[in-house]
Amino acid sequence: MSQRTFSIIKPDAVRKGYTAAILAEIEKAGFKIIAIKKLSISKSQAEGFYYVHKERPFFDSLTSFMSSGPIFPLVLEKENAIADLRKLMGATNPANAEEGTIRKKFAGSIEENAIHGSDAEDTAKFEIGYFFAGYELA
Ligand code: PPS
Repeated sequence: MSQRTFSIIKPDAVRKGYTAAILAEIEKAGFKIIAIKKLSISKSQAEGFYYVHKERPFFDSLTSFMSSGPIFPLVLEKENAIADLRKLMGATNPANAEEGTIRKKFAGSIEENAIHGSDAEDTAKFEIGYFFAGYELA
């Protein structure tokens, strides 16, 4: 059964001009792009998105980074989309990411790691709703 997940092409990848190459990897892997937009978010909007990590030592740095430049939020669909996107992304730290993954190819560090992907169905639902209205998802 087809499933939706949420992704963000992060500011580092956008700055380096990797957006189109990352979208090509995503489409080549069989994901349908249901929605996409380009925007810049404020520090407080980034804090709202990452609120589950608010006690983590990297929270301030992560939310500053995510509000440092334009991003591309995405809604993606395919069978097993949540797990398959995480696999395509590779490990959080690109130093540990497998060959062929997006982070191995495009990420520079554990923080500037090119792409975000939801880790579960409930987080995908929250994250899609954080960035997209229902009418944008038809
Ligand atoms: S966990 O434990 O699975 O929740 O953590 P993880 O998914 O690895 O990381 C959550 C998000 O925080 C980012 N992250 C970091 N940012 C800065 N510094 C450090 N050390 C760091 N460790 C993790 C990581 O990129 C994740 O961002 P998203 O957008 O969710 O991929």
